[in-house]
Amino acid sequence: MEVLISEEKIGQRVREIGEQISRDYRSERIVIVGVLKGCFIFLSDLIRQVSVPHEVDFIAVSSYGNSTESSGVVRLLKDLETDIHGRHVLLVEDIVDTGSSLAYIRENLETRNPASLRICALLDKRERREREVSVDYVGFEIPNRFVVGYGLDYAERYRDLPYVAVLTEEEHA
Ligand code: PRP
Repeated sequence: MEVLISEEKIGQRVREIGEQISRDYRSERIVIVGVLKGCFIFLSDLIRQVSVPHEVDFIAVSSYGNSTESSGVVRLLKDLETDIHGRHVLLVEDIVDTGSSLAYIRENLETRNPASLRICALLDKRERREREVSVDYVGFEIPNRFVVGYGLDYAERYRDLPYVAVLTEEEHA
């Protein structure tokens, strides 16, 4: 396992994104929607850097299962509890890969007519993109390697690592 993004770099970037979000939404109330499960570490650090009033809710979709390949088929596993009609919504993801999950969630949430819908993702594996999604706040663009840590798993392991690391082929074979 090789460290790709250190704990310190993540902390610094999360502070910057939090400040940017606070500036962009000044005088608004927002609903921050985390996409489970991978978002939970990033989201909990991020909201403590956001100074505008906000509520937190979660949504869950399935994409990968336990394999390392994305199927492109997305299902809603857990819906929001909040009515987002007329609300400013900020979606928070740990990683955008093919874009299938976010494309599905964006389409689904837009039918509920939020006042606005923006996307924040810690990691962006842009070269893997199959569905066009515009991400408003990106932590780091990363190469097409299998990454774990800071909420991201391989078969439910490694979510607790304080940094983002690359797993070698043997480690995720
Ligand atoms: C990951 C990640 C995104 C999605 C990105 O979730 O959290 O939701 O995959 O891939 P895509 O852009 O190709 O759709 P995963 O399905 O691994 O679930 P988890 O967050 O519960 O670990």
